[in-house]
This record gives sequence, C-alpha cells and structure tokens, in this order.
Amino acid sequence: MAEESFTIIDNRSGNEVTVPIVDGTISSAALRQLDKGMWFYDPAYLSTANCDSKITFIDGAEGILRYRGYPIEQLADSSSFLEVCYLLLHGELPTQAQSDVWVDHITNHTYVHENIARFMQGFRYDAHPMGTLVSTVAGLSTFYPEAKDIDDPHNRMIQIIRLIAKMPTMAAFAYKNRLGLPYEYPVNNLGYTGNFLRMMWNVADPSFEPDPILTKALDVLFILHADHEQNCSTTTMRTVGSSQADPYSAVAAATCGLYGPLHGGANEKVIRMLHEIGSYENVDAYVEKVKSGEMLLQGFGHRVYKNYDPRAKIIKQTADRVFNVTGMNPLLDIAMKLEEVALSDSYFVDRSLYPNVDFYSGLIYEAMGFPMDMFTVLFAIGRTPGWLAHWQEMLDDPEQKIYRPRQKYTGPDERSYVAIGNR
Ligand code: CMC
Repeated sequence: MAEESFTIIDNRSGNEVTVPIVDGTISSAALRQLDKGMWFYDPAYLSTANCDSKITFIDGAEGILRYRGYPIEQLADSSSFLEVCYLLLHGELPTQAQSDVWVDHITNHTYVHENIARFMQGFRYDAHPMGTLVSTVAGLSTFYPEAKDIDDPHNRMIQIIRLIAKMPTMAAFAYKNRLGLPYEYPVNNLGYTGNFLRMMWNVADPSFEPDPILTKALDVLFILHADHEQNCSTTTMRTVGSSQADPYSAVAAATCGLYGPLHGGANEKVIRMLHEIGSYENVDAYVEKVKSGEMLLQGFGHRVYKNYDPRAKIIKQTADRVFNVTGMNPLLDIAMKLEEVALSDSYFVDRSLYPNVDFYSGLIYEAMGFPMDMFTVLFAIGRTPGWLAHWQEMLDDPEQKIYRPRQKYTGPDERSYVAIGNR
C-alpha cells in the first residue's frame, strides 16, 4: 500500500519534506520547515481545517450530519433541544438524574436582570430583532464580569447555562418591544421551547399554553440548528474566544456572523424571494434569472453539502405536521415547484446545488406567525449551544492559540508622505 503521506518539494532548493496524512489532513507546519517565510494562501478557508473537533460530523457528499456520533434524524425524532444542548456540551447524552439537574438549571436562569429589560426598551420601535439581540447579548457581559475567568470550568458552565437559558427571553423581548407590548416573563411550568412560545405570543392570559404540536416542531428546528461544525458564526465564536474574551462578547460576535444573508439570514431571504416570485407560474422565469447570474436562489447551495441537506429533509417532514395545525402556507407550492425545477436543471445539478436548512424553515416559521425578521433570531437560539460547545473545546485544546492568520500583501511599496497641498 502506498505511504499515507504527501511530499512537498521546494523546487528552488530541491529540499523536500514528507508530511503524514492524519484524519484526512496534512499539517501546514511542514511547509514552514522548508521556508519560514512561506504561507498557504487560502481565501475563505476553502481548503483549511483549523482545529480538531469531536462535536459534529458532516459528510457533505453523502448528506450525513451527526452530533457526537448520533445521526441528526434520530435526535430530531427522539431527543429534545435541551438534551441535545447537554450532548453537544458534555459529549454524552445525560442520564435521567443528569437531565433533571440540567433542565432545572436552565429553567432557573431564564430571567434577565431588570436593567437588561429596560435597556432593551431603548431600541427604536422598528429595530431589527437581530440587532437588538446582538447588542443585548454583548450587554450581558457587563452584568456578569466574573465571566472573564474563562479558565475555571465551573465558572464557564454557569455562563453557558445563563446564555442558553436567556436567549429565548431576550429574543421574545426583542419581538414584544417592536409591538410596544409588555414583556411576558418566563414561567417554570413549561419546557424550554413552550416557554419561549408563551413569551412570544401571550398577552394577558395567565392560562396560556402553546400548541404542543407547534412546540414540538420548533423544538425539532432548534435541534437541527444546534451545531454545524466550523461554519461562519462558529468560526467567529472560536476566533473571538481565542483572544480569551468572555463568552457573552464571543456569542454576540457569533450572532453577528449569523446575521448575514449568506448564513443565518438566508431563511428570511427565502421567504422574501418566494413572495417576490408570487405565483407558481412565475417559477420558471425566476429560475432563468438565477441561471443568468442576476440573483441567487436563496436557500440553495452549501459550502459543505454537495447533496441534499439532511436537515432540509427533516424540516420538510416537520412542515406537514405544522401545516395541519396552522393551515397550509400558500408559498409552499411555489417552494416545491422551485425545488423540482432546480433539481432537474443542469445549472443546479452540475454545481451540486440542493435545498439547504434555510429553504423550508422560513415557511414553517411564517405559518407559525413569526415575522420574517425573527427567523434568524430563532436560528441564533438554536445555534447557541453549538457555539458554546466549540468555545469550550477550543479553550481546552492545548494546540489552540489566539487566531491570527497571515496575509499576502499586495499594496504599494514604501513611499514618502506628500503634504496635502502637493497631492
Ligand atoms: N443560487 C445560484 N447559484 C448558486 C447558488 C445559489 N443559491 N449557490 C451557489 N451558486 C453557484 C455559484 O454562483 C457558483 O457558480 P459558478 O461556479 O458558475 O461561479 C457555484 O454555484 C459555486 O458557488 P460558491 O458561491 O462558490 O459556493 P460557496 O461554497 O462559496 O457558497 C453558499 C455557499 C451557501 C454561500 C452559496 O451556495 C449561497 O450563497 N447560497 C444562497 C444563500 C443561502 O442559502 N445560504 C444558507 C446556507 S445554509 C445555512 C447557513 O449556513 O446558515
């Protein structure tokens, strides 16, 4: 059998170095043995693995996603979001006793400091809830200055519990703020997701309980969003965390990364696109515009998946259960036709462009009554445990240091300052 290694030859000197292949990667440090001034040039990290990770496995070609070894399909079917949070953070599913303690901790940290609630009221009535969430999460760091002690695992876990517990509260407050409605405070008799839905929808009804089918559907969506290895926002979390910033600041930065339309913001874009297409008959013409490069087909394509995103499959099944309760979302027909046209067109087939997680999730959110600008906030609630699991893993990894890539300088050579009157 051929040796499992690469040989890099410096053709200038004839020197060479042999680099073993380990877990499908070769160490870039070997290159530096040949020339300490040489760097790999890899814009957007297209061919770079930046860390070891034991959290999430993706096989993009086969459409496989596993958290800590468990297939996403099984977790979506049988687990709960809080159990998945535990799994991501601790590496194992909890026993009943561990689960009881974990759920109790999260349930008892859902309130935010009253000054946070008041701070949130300072945003304009039309503030995008993602902007509000980003700023409020960052603001939490000022309420928990002890969070800076990132070397103490117990202290870290307290901040992790606070973040997971408070995200839905801040998200619902951001929504209520825009409507000028009073905040609905958390209650302890409902589960994590049910409590969030109550904070979102309830006004003045102490007996309000959210629909159990919709609650379960949203819980599944949170599970599907809980982690996705080294995506843009998680890489942001690791980058900011690598400077030893506190976890509130790092989660705020990760939330900013998620906000963009190429990442978590795509679910909002999908619904805007479906509204723009407007009717079943307009789908073909829209696809032609996409093919001519005028626009992207939102919710299609993925850096890693070159097959159907397994999360999109589960979301499609979940949609049926939701629409049974809420009534059909009229945009579904357009979405299904769009998928059918795209999947049979060589433009999309040749580029392996399949629906991703964002293609159908917005339809469910819209049917449940969420306004479009809350969609990415829902993604952020789901992704928080993933960000925190990676943050912990990075802090505990002896190979990790402050993130500091190199660049290829292409600017001007040295030149002399010219006084403003002579320019
Ligand atoms: N519609 C039309 N063409 C596309 C699309 C799309 N959605 N996505 C990629 N392509 C084309 C792209 O133009 C390029 O064509 P060519 O080779 O002729 O230049 C080719 O496919 C490869 O695309 P790429 O931009 O090099 O791929 P990437 O890995 O850099 O980008 C992506 C991945 C997700 C940013 C991109 O597919 C995209 O912009 N999709 C639409 C936005 C979206 O749905 N984002 C959500 C991603 S999943 C959830 C998440 O991460 O939050």
